[in-house]
Amino acid sequence: MKDTPELRSIAIYSREELCGGYFVLWIWDDELSKQCSPGQFFEIRAQASFHDAWDSQRIPKLFKPISVYDNSGGRIGFFIKNVGAGTSALARLKAGDMLELIGPLGNSFPVVSGKRVLLLSGGIGYPPLSYLQKEIINHNLIFWLHGGATQADVFPCDEVWTVDGSIGKQGMVTQGLEDVIINKKIEVLYSCGPLPMLKQASEIAFRHGVEHYTSMEAYMACGIGVCHGCAVPIGSHDDWDYLRVCKEGPVFNANDVLWSEL
Ligand SMILES: Cc1cc2nc3c(=O)[nH]c(=O)nc-3n(C[C@H](O)[C@H](O)[C@H](O)COP(=O)(O)OP(=O)(O)OC[C@H]3O[C@@H](n4cnc5c(N)ncnc54)[C@H](O)[C@@H]3O)c2cc1C
Ligand code: FES
Repeated sequence: MKDTPELRSIAIYSREELCGGYFVLWIWDDELSKQCSPGQFFEIRAQASFHDAWDSQRIPKLFKPISVYDNSGGRIGFFIKNVGAGTSALARLKAGDMLELIGPLGNSFPVVSGKRVLLLSGGIGYPPLSYLQKEIINHNLIFWLHGGATQADVFPCDEVWTVDGSIGKQGMVTQGLEDVIINKKIEVLYSCGPLPMLKQASEIAFRHGVEHYTSMEAYMACGIGVCHGCAVPIGSHDDWDYLRVCKEGPVFNANDVLWSEL
């Protein structure tokens, strides 16, 4: 596609190991850094030479969509959970190894100013909201609600929910949403996480008249707008179309998503 960013190979500057299968890969690239906005993602994979070496272990060569987690002064971070073959190949990389990237891809979160903002993340929905928070923190009052399966899926925020109750409040993070919207007089909600969480958040925010922007984590094949495998129904019940999460998204106005069709 004509407007798809070119493929680049960039050496990993450093790697941070976190608990629970999470890790962060850092790269330096001034030009790419200037192009990124919160909500955007890259298609990334370990460089081919690494895959060749691993072919005997049947490591797949597909690119994986990963959000920009941090971006400042030329340094870009990817906060990743090792969940399968692709992310496990990325998890083996260390400083100095080469990463192949296409991006930044997709649209970005609309930036607001002078608002009472709620960030709502579930599991690996955390990274894009972390980048967003840093960009808007000086111009808004922000409260951050995060939920995960267990303690290892929890990162710095204002209120934590875990399914197993190992830390924070026990239950699904959406159980705390309505109270926070009311008590903090929330005007704008940004969300990213699993589909059931986004669906429920959308209902609650709509009921309270809260402006809501959501980043959808659809399954992606090409990641660059060609295959239409990531399409989601957007519009009203009378007039809607399938839009691609990788191209027109990943961020949508939650009121435009036809949640009942998903
Ligand atoms: C726009 C976008 C941004 C993303 N940003 C990040 C990020 O910053 N950090 C991060 O760790 N992950 C992120 N993801 C999810 C990440 O792309 C997947 O976890 C990864 O592709 C899994 O690949 P795999 O080969 O390791 O595992 P697979 O073998 O492909 O899958 C392993 C397990 O993860 C589930 N899974 C795979 N992809 C998704 C998905 N898109 N949504 C929900 N479940 C999925 C599968 O059902 C399976 O259970 C993002 C996804 C999208 C679409
Ligand atoms: S993943 Fe192919 S069009 Fe979006």
